[in-house]
Amino acid sequence: MKVKATASVLVTIWAGASAQDYNSAPPNLAGLPRIIYIGDPCAHYNDPETGLFHVGFLHNGTGIASVLTGDLVHYYDVRPNGNYSIVAGGPNDPLAVFDGSVIPNGVDGKPTLFHLRRGKNFTKLEIPPVISEPPAGLDVTAFRDPYVFQNGELDRSLNNAEGTWYTIISGGIHEVGPGMFLYQNISPNFEQWEYLGEWFHEPANSTWGNGDWSRIFGFNWETSNVFGLTKDGYSYNGEPFMTIAVESSYDPIQESVSSQHAQIWAAGAIATTEGENVTFTPDMVGVFDWGLASYAAAGKVLPQSSQASTASGAPDRLISYVWLTGDVFGGIVGFPAEQQGWQNTLLTSRELYIKDIPNVVDNDLVQETGSWRVVANSDLTGECVELETLGIEIARETYAAMTAAPSFTEPDRTTTSEGVIPFGRSPESRFFILEAEINFDARASSLQAGFQILASEFESTTIYYQFSNESIMIDRSQTSAAGSTTTGIDASPESGRIRLFDISDNCGTHGNRKDEEFEHDLTSNHVWGSDDHTSTSNGAGSEHIETLSLTIVVDNSVLEVYANSRFVLSTWVRPWYKDSTEIRFFQNGEGEASYSNIRVADGLYDAYPDRPQ
Ligand SMILES: *[C@@H]1O[C@H](CO)[C@@H](O)[C@H](O)[C@H]1NC(C)=O
Ligand SMILES: *[C@@H]1O[C@H](CO)[C@@H](O)[C@H](O)[C@H]1NC(C)=O
Ligand SMILES: *[C@@H]1O[C@H](CO)[C@@H](O)[C@H](O)[C@H]1NC(C)=O
Ligand SMILES: *[C@@H]1O[C@H](CO)[C@@H](O)[C@H](O)[C@H]1NC(C)=O
Ligand SMILES: *[C@@H]1O[C@H](CO)[C@@H](O)[C@H](O)[C@H]1NC(C)=O
Ligand SMILES: *[C@@H]1O[C@H](CO)[C@@H](O)[C@H](O)[C@H]1NC(C)=O
Repeated sequence: MKVKATASVLVTIWAGASAQDYNSAPPNLAGLPRIIYIGDPCAHYNDPETGLFHVGFLHNGTGIASVLTGDLVHYYDVRPNGNYSIVAGGPNDPLAVFDGSVIPNGVDGKPTLFHLRRGKNFTKLEIPPVISEPPAGLDVTAFRDPYVFQNGELDRSLNNAEGTWYTIISGGIHEVGPGMFLYQNISPNFEQWEYLGEWFHEPANSTWGNGDWSRIFGFNWETSNVFGLTKDGYSYNGEPFMTIAVESSYDPIQESVSSQHAQIWAAGAIATTEGENVTFTPDMVGVFDWGLASYAAAGKVLPQSSQASTASGAPDRLISYVWLTGDVFGGIVGFPAEQQGWQNTLLTSRELYIKDIPNVVDNDLVQETGSWRVVANSDLTGECVELETLGIEIARETYAAMTAAPSFTEPDRTTTSEGVIPFGRSPESRFFILEAEINFDARASSLQAGFQILASEFESTTIYYQFSNESIMIDRSQTSAAGSTTTGIDASPESGRIRLFDISDNCGTHGNRKDEEFEHDLTSNHVWGSDDHTSTSNGAGSEHIETLSLTIVVDNSVLEVYANSRFVLSTWVRPWYKDSTEIRFFQNGEGEASYSNIRVADGLYDAYPDRPQ
């Protein structure tokens, strides 16, 4: 089986159905076997001795397994047969091991794992728990997923020595809201951790602004990460960013948080007021992956000195993996929840940085509490601003390997009326990357424009942008013919918001800025035949709507849609028919869409060369 560069085996619900005939109508699939595989990504680290990056994940519900990579392209099991790196069974964790986090140069200079046991205790191997219970007097909704990190702004705020280790533990307080608890290491052997307070918390069930750009803060947080970012990647001195997994529903009868999830990010400022605890205050909050099944992102510093970065020339980076869950959280009983269980995948490795959006017209679209912040008036006339947001890219090595597959192009096209138009050529497999840019001449309120993929006479998945709520939509209602013979195959739509700003070519002082931008903008090596991702002109006048740049990754039953280096939506797609491989232009409603730089890299590489096919 070909799989993309994720840290797990990709298993679809059709696994076990290989004897089926994919040219005729599907049978009822509810009897397929159950396979248990992976859970939250966690415990990643770059081994300073070997320069190899370890990517871990909960495995079979009782331990952590991990894979190694020296290039972010190929992954190898650390233990034979993908066996556990750490299992339950010691005196501190008799029942199960949950998400952990690693200090690469920890105890005795060795990589040291901090992990959670039994839901509430944070322990370290072979010694009693270093943080044995939640802070006294707090009625916590959860207290889990320790994440260890270093941060220059925290060190300066607290007058700590440079490079002090901190840990956050995610959770929340009943009736109050979600939050994260901050600790600092105060002993050379990492055995003593001092509580510094709940440095970041939000009211229960509240939203950032009206919630349009960041979903909801929910009732409890899990698997939070903290890291410093610059325009190039990770830095100890970078600006503080976080990723946070949100549990957003609350059952007042059982007094428990569960079900509906979101995977968000936040950026902001760390501060201490005299006599008060250190705090983190967000100034922008967004969604890290809009997919309803996307959850539990786990990132780690991948230093410039790693094998992967030495070869690619990359600076220090923060590499994050998102978990695409099965239907375990959907409240579904029976098929497919039982078959899917923990059967799911980690998504493509992503590198994070601060993304500039220059030359933005300073109008109402900018002035909203959103997933961006205004950093500067970028010209003398005061008509333009520069925005900043979280940049999210497929890790450059992974992207290069994926797009090295044989590719073909499709001519530019402008659509002005409803309908579908097939590409001249279809990919040969369900493993491909489709990239394209779409320009809109107006914010036509009824326009929906994009692509149908995995299409045939009987099936199609439609991915389009619509101005009505500034969303990328994925219509899965026709994705799988199996939905008509087997109940429980999720066909609900997926969507996420991305605002296309107004861009001006007349923003005064940007003469030098362009070059600098080119150098910093990771997207520049990501777009075939185009120098600038964010401000391609559609030719008309000096002001135009920002180009929508799509990178659509299809890895059999996993679909990841990337847009403008700042948007990702991942979901499951499970077409039945073998010939459902066509790509089509799609338009609905009135308006005009111009497509350019359309290219398909056909066939992904095998990310696990040592595993049986
Ligand atoms: C995993 O390793 C343990 C020993 O640590 C061994 O007993 C077990 O058989 C191994 N399982 C697999 C699937 O290789
Ligand atoms: C995980 O479960 C699968 C299915 O039961 C099994 O084949 C595999 O050996 C298990 N892995 C380990 C490390 O025990
Ligand atoms: C946490 O660990 C301590 C010390 O081992 C133990 O006394 C306590 O019962 C544990 N708490 C929970 C909630 O497991
Ligand atoms: C402030 O920090 C102290 C520990 O130094 C802690 O006991 C207290 O609960 C914290 N206050 C808040 C509001 O988090
Ligand atoms: C959470 O807020 C939404 C509105 O944003 C409301 O519909 C819902 O009832 C709230 N849930 C609880 C448990 O308060
Ligand atoms: C946008 O509108 C569609 C209906 O046209 C809806 O299904 C979708 O959930 C909305 N997207 C967001 C992100 O709110």
